[in-house]
Amino acid sequence: MQQLNWHERISHLLEAYKENHSSDPHRLQFHLMPAVGLLNDPNGLIQYKGTYHVFFQWNPFGTVHGPKCWGHYTSQDLVYWQNHQPSLVPSEWYEKDGCYSGSAVEVDGDMVLFYSGNVKHEDGTRETYQCMAVSHNGFDFEKKGPVVLLPEGYTAHFRDPKVWKRDGVWYMVVGAQTFYQEGAVVLFASVDLKEWELKGILAGSHLNGLTDFGYMWECPDFFELDDQDVLLVSPQGLEEKESFYQNEFQSGYFVGKWQVGTTEFPHGEFHELDRGFDFYAPQTFQDKAGRRIMLGWMGITDEQESFQPTIERGWVHALTIPRELELKNSRIIQKPVQELKQMREAGGFKCQTSLENETKTWHELSGIVSELVIRFQQNHAETIEIEIRKNLSIIYDKQINRLTLKRKRFEDGKIESRSCFLDKLEDLHIYLDTSAIEIFVNGGQEVFTARFFAEDNEKEIIFTVNGHVDIDLEKWNLRLQKRL
Ligand code: FRU
Repeated sequence: MQQLNWHERISHLLEAYKENHSSDPHRLQFHLMPAVGLLNDPNGLIQYKGTYHVFFQWNPFGTVHGPKCWGHYTSQDLVYWQNHQPSLVPSEWYEKDGCYSGSAVEVDGDMVLFYSGNVKHEDGTRETYQCMAVSHNGFDFEKKGPVVLLPEGYTAHFRDPKVWKRDGVWYMVVGAQTFYQEGAVVLFASVDLKEWELKGILAGSHLNGLTDFGYMWECPDFFELDDQDVLLVSPQGLEEKESFYQNEFQSGYFVGKWQVGTTEFPHGEFHELDRGFDFYAPQTFQDKAGRRIMLGWMGITDEQESFQPTIERGWVHALTIPRELELKNSRIIQKPVQELKQMREAGGFKCQTSLENETKTWHELSGIVSELVIRFQQNHAETIEIEIRKNLSIIYDKQINRLTLKRKRFEDGKIESRSCFLDKLEDLHIYLDTSAIEIFVNGGQEVFTARFFAEDNEKEIIFTVNGHVDIDLEKWNLRLQKRL
């Protein structure tokens, strides 16, 4: 009954949204966003019977973190997406306060979801259940209830099951907090997806050379990439250190070699996946072509969240574009999936130029939904600044090899920045989508993701160079043939 209420209430909201969304300048053109309400983590990513499915954490009823359901988009090509009714909405006692994050697998032609059932009590305590739901078509799910209960030794911050199969055995990792307030990833194994055996801690904030590395680890993901094993995780509670861990919470990865079936996973250092302002809780999946593809939440639960200007339009947050992952020298390289080139309008702008102690712009570069590729050939400039829509600046300081992204803080318009250090700056590949930017640096060695809110009429991109640099520029206006 309650389930019906959700669907009915959402239908009403969507009707209202259709009437008022066209005047909203910050709506995104090609990024997945909620029609109304708050979106957070990508969930249940899978290519199932040829179709890509992206589910997401969704509170349709407000722009705050309330009870979550699983919103649902599908695509044939990772470019054009269709929105569907939510697939999991809270209806049972074990998920009464939210169907939290989780993952999808295909079994004998069925799509099987694993997610965290969240129960909150009035006194602030909570319960968590790792639950299963099965579908024959990828749209209608039958809930099977909890399959994993909270084991001893952990607080109720135990969630976000990611399931996969290796050598004929099913495994599940869950994000956890131990009774000692330590972040951890807990491993389970199963032969039938229903009975799960607890294996123990696969990685954690006090293991493998780490000390005090966060009080809670959310949204784990574990997969093979180029003969190594990669653990993605979103730790909470890391202290800012030089240019690292600048956001409220982090998302990153460890590379190592897993002794399959055990909790032995010796691994290297933690590396952040994104150096911008808005990135959290990414998830990956492998598509039929064997690519490892990741989407992240273009947002973070932080103080700035409530100042996002889209809130007055009734929605907040988005997902990143799909990014293909590769491993090079034990570091993840991220590339926009090549299908996104389909969005390019014919007749892109291309030019080769030298800039010397000057400020320059080209009217062809202006735009609010576009793709830019900037290659730096001979860079003898002390600093290069690229100002975007009077709101963002990308600055490279060659003397210290530092790349910085500056933007206006939502709260008060003050400038805030994020930086990383490079060996050298080779290229920038930028996706601009009204109020979102994703900057892939040096072929995807580093990525900066951010939301920004410029005035409608500010469309220019301006270069300021101190010294001499040769640049190849490419710019494409982007357009979706079908609307999201
Ligand atoms: C991460 C997270 C997850 C949880 C979900 C709830 O952003 O806190 O740990 O499952 O969001 O929406």
